[in-house]
Amino acid sequence: MLKGLLFDLDGVLADTAQYHLLAWRELAERLNIDLPAAADADLRGRSRLDSLNLLLQYGHELEQFSAAEKASLMAEKNRHYQALVKRLTPQALLPGIADLLAAAQADGVMMAVASSSQNAPLILDQLGIADYFAGVADPTKVHQGKPAPDIYQAAQALLGLDADEVIGFEDAPAGVAAIKAAGQFAVGIGDDWVLRAADIIVPTTAELNYGQLKQAFNAD
Ligand code: G6P
Ligand code: MG
Repeated sequence: MLKGLLFDLDGVLADTAQYHLLAWRELAERLNIDLPAAADADLRGRSRLDSLNLLLQYGHELEQFSAAEKASLMAEKNRHYQALVKRLTPQALLPGIADLLAAAQADGVMMAVASSSQNAPLILDQLGIADYFAGVADPTKVHQGKPAPDIYQAAQALLGLDADEVIGFEDAPAGVAAIKAAGQFAVGIGDDWVLRAADIIVPTTAELNYGQLKQAFNAD
């Protein structure tokens, strides 16, 4: 029986994934690293450090930076990201999300956030949706980032539920992999092929319908 919904934040609840990518691309440019178009899907959902390591790998520069230098590069990216999201309002909620959250709440289903982003609490406040969530899993407290299952397991534990009682929502291949590794039901939002490991895939959040999702989950 469906008892909980676990949400990724960037690219699922809000239109913020583009700002992360923009900030990473700006850093790559400053370091003279050429990021291929495929890097966008690859970077989505990864923790701050995993994202930086991936970016440096693209430039074959992974070995060239000390831990202290990496910390300063991550701080630089985060400053840029925070400047980009400073004026975020509830307008940045993706289409269909407000209805989905309201419908799930009305049905007595609990919700939690399973984002890799340390900025998640701040963004949820800016979006005006923090009160919908019984918990926000802390990405700094998990052992491994997505695609490992840890953050989805942590969000599920915050709700006190079992893996077969929850649905996870993701826009990133690493995130869908994390949900499936946690043994949960995965809804992918985006490209069919990129997110093929998900149980259900919709092209955009506008196609998310609580009643239909519940039916598909129960039929599984
Ligand atoms: C999310 C985003 C990633 C971002 C990660 C860490 O999962 O999809 O693009 O790198 O969070 O975000 P943070 O705000 O902690 O740097
Ligand atoms: Mg995402």
